[in-house]
Amino acid sequence: MAQIILSGKLASAPLRESIKEQISALTKEGLRPPCLCAILVGNDPASQIYISNKQKSCASVGINSKVYHLSEHVSKEELVKLIHQLNLDESVDGIIVQLPLPKHIDQQEIISSIDPTKDVDGFHPINLGFLMAQVDKGFIPCTPLGVELLLKHYGIDVKGAEIAIVGTGFIVGRPLGLLMLWKGATIRMCNINTKDISVHTREADIVISAVGKPSLIKASMVKPGAVVVDIGITRVENKVLGDVDYDEVAKLASAITPVPGGVGPMTVTALLLNTLKAYIERFSREGAFVRERVCES
Ligand code: GUN
Repeated sequence: MAQIILSGKLASAPLRESIKEQISALTKEGLRPPCLCAILVGNDPASQIYISNKQKSCASVGINSKVYHLSEHVSKEELVKLIHQLNLDESVDGIIVQLPLPKHIDQQEIISSIDPTKDVDGFHPINLGFLMAQVDKGFIPCTPLGVELLLKHYGIDVKGAEIAIVGTGFIVGRPLGLLMLWKGATIRMCNINTKDISVHTREADIVISAVGKPSLIKASMVKPGAVVVDIGITRVENKVLGDVDYDEVAKLASAITPVPGGVGPMTVTALLLNTLKAYIERFSREGAFVRERVCES
């Protein structure tokens, strides 16, 4: 069996405790609590579960959250109008729009309408640009940030590591590749056109899969002693399955994430961290604003 089970629940605990303590200290000083607004369009059952988990996690650390549940037939204009209202609302620190959106709505247009300083999902082109340019500003998307924190918690160094990422979606694989590159890893990004994924995964010290295809990653595709991170989520009846053939791969991996309980909790923890960051930066900007006015007068 793998030497280490990479538990997102365990790795999240000290981070969430620290977030809770920081919020408690700031609210005791008289600041309002942080506020995250989540927009859910339609009735996708998986999205409803994700949003409900995010709300519960916010409450557990002292972040207020509000969910705007809109009809699946909502127009792009109505959605943008709501986002603009939230952008202007000084009592709101973070805004997320749960993806995927219904097909009639252009996802990029919606994401681009969020104020980048409130884009705690890190999907706005400005925030993705900071990641691309390796500028330590804005927000890193939650799942990539969660994976980085999970590996760090278990003392797994990505600097100099060969990492194969399977899946290059814009929410996970693509920004994760940029983040790992930033942190000094050598990256292979496998996509739908890759002729033989195993050529790349077999060479990797760390294999990360974010496809959503159960049993895609088999033991024969993984180097003995490699670290395996499973981000895929497929719901089959009442079960949640990852991309990795867990029982077989766990026998030869040095460390492996379970599904559920691996990357999932880390994604939510990263959202809490980004929301706290947005809140602190909002107040420090406002502080600077007040100081400027005092100096002018
Ligand atoms: N859908 C799947 N993952 C995510 C995520 O991290 N954020 C949002 N907004 N939608 C998602």
